[in-house]
Amino acid sequence: MSHATEGGVFAVVESWHGAVGRTPLEAARRLGLRTAFVTADAGRYTANDADRAAFAGCVDEVIEADTRSGEAVADALAAHQRAGRLRGVFTTNDYSVPTTAEAARLLGLPGLAPEAAHRARHKLRTREACDRAGVPGPAWGWARSEAEALAAGERVGYPCVVKPMTDAGSIGVRLCRSPAQLAEYYRAIASVPTDYRGGPRTPGALVEEYVVGFEVSVETVTSVGERTVLGVTDKALGPHPHFVEIGQSFPSLLPEPVRDRCAAHALAALDALGHDFGAAHVEVKLTADGPRLVEVNARMPGARITRLIQESTGVHLQRELVKLHTGRQPDLAVRHRRGAASRCLTATDGGTVRAVRGEELARRVPGLVALDVYVRPGDAVRRARDNVDVCGSLVAVGDTAGEAVRRADAALGQLSVDVEADVEADVEAHVVADVQAHVEADLRAHVEAAP
Ligand SMILES: Nc1ncnc2c1ncn2[C@@H]1O[C@H](COP(=O)(O)OP(=O)(O)OP(=O)(O)O)[C@@H](O)[C@H]1O
Ligand SMILES: [Mg+2]
Repeated sequence: MSHATEGGVFAVVESWHGAVGRTPLEAARRLGLRTAFVTADAGRYTANDADRAAFAGCVDEVIEADTRSGEAVADALAAHQRAGRLRGVFTTNDYSVPTTAEAARLLGLPGLAPEAAHRARHKLRTREACDRAGVPGPAWGWARSEAEALAAGERVGYPCVVKPMTDAGSIGVRLCRSPAQLAEYYRAIASVPTDYRGGPRTPGALVEEYVVGFEVSVETVTSVGERTVLGVTDKALGPHPHFVEIGQSFPSLLPEPVRDRCAAHALAALDALGHDFGAAHVEVKLTADGPRLVEVNARMPGARITRLIQESTGVHLQRELVKLHTGRQPDLAVRHRRGAASRCLTATDGGTVRAVRGEELARRVPGLVALDVYVRPGDAVRRARDNVDVCGSLVAVGDTAGEAVRRADAALGQLSVDVEADVEADVEAHVVADVQAHVEADLRAHVEAAP
């Protein structure tokens, strides 16, 4: 029996595509665990040779199961459990948070309370729970028809935001400046019955007050009765009407009392949802009237944020989460303090990639520690509308987050996606086609693909 087998089995239920999604598997391996990857479709993770090799390099066993059902996942892992080998079950993937929580509960393993997982996963339930608990967020309405959407728009005022309730990666989230836009985007969401991962959508959409301010996320870890705020991340967003996340930096450059207010708001939201275990990534906007909750993600942060935390503090979040989910004590002690920042590469035109230019130059920028390009010549790209459209990302470090941001921006400034423009692709096509394309394609291996 290999050393890896002796440590027991660590099960991961679905994940993000690409390198970040694999990091908990790699961390589990390094901790002497054998990895079982539970998925409804292994092909999703092995779309090209590089992904196939990387996947095989960190997954010991693939278990196919209906990952929309906690019972099915628990059944799929029952043999390992009966043999006394199963140590933990975990996911990075927002869509699989409730399933994983339910499976952990059924298998008697550490995990998040399933009710909390469901509340966090569903933006309508999050809003309801936070309203009940008095945690301020935007005014909102659940619209099940175009008329209800317009009535909600009247109530919350323009511009407003419309969004599906169970998607991620900013898919389908739009700023609406007029009733006509709201009606169009509402129809686009309502006409697609499934989410990005093919699960049924709650009918209709949320219509929300557009809260104006800067956006942060609060990164936390909760173990038995104890919450640790790892820090607050500053976010940079792309142009309206979309909300593409184009960069992050850690720790936040905001003054400490402002950061503390954001963190306190996030903790109140976690309490409101009954969040009691594991990582959370809570998005908050700081407005002139104080913090407003955007949403709670009951999972480790995505994009490059775990890397930023590691560069900035020395805490390897994935490794510590594997420990937590296998019943061990995580070590979240800060080793050092410096700044880290990421920036995303996006295409300015829709069309076919000819090349990504400027990599050599970007690598000459001091402090650059990672640069990954996700597209290849011949790939179809479009002007980014959501996080799935991101074409690459980089990470830079500095003595402070400010220096890291300057370096990351300097590196990004060297890069461009050279695209053979396709007139059709650049037309602001109907969002229906947009969302459907995602459901159908699920194609590119990305760091922060919609989880
Ligand atoms: N009511 C709002 N007011 C202002 N901005 C909003 C509002 N709702 C959403 N946004 C913006 O849109 C982004 C995406 O929205 P949201 O987080 O609800 O969707 P998501 O698809 O789950 O996102 P992700 O998975 O990328 O975190 C937010 O990070 C924020 O920038
Ligand atoms: Mg979000």
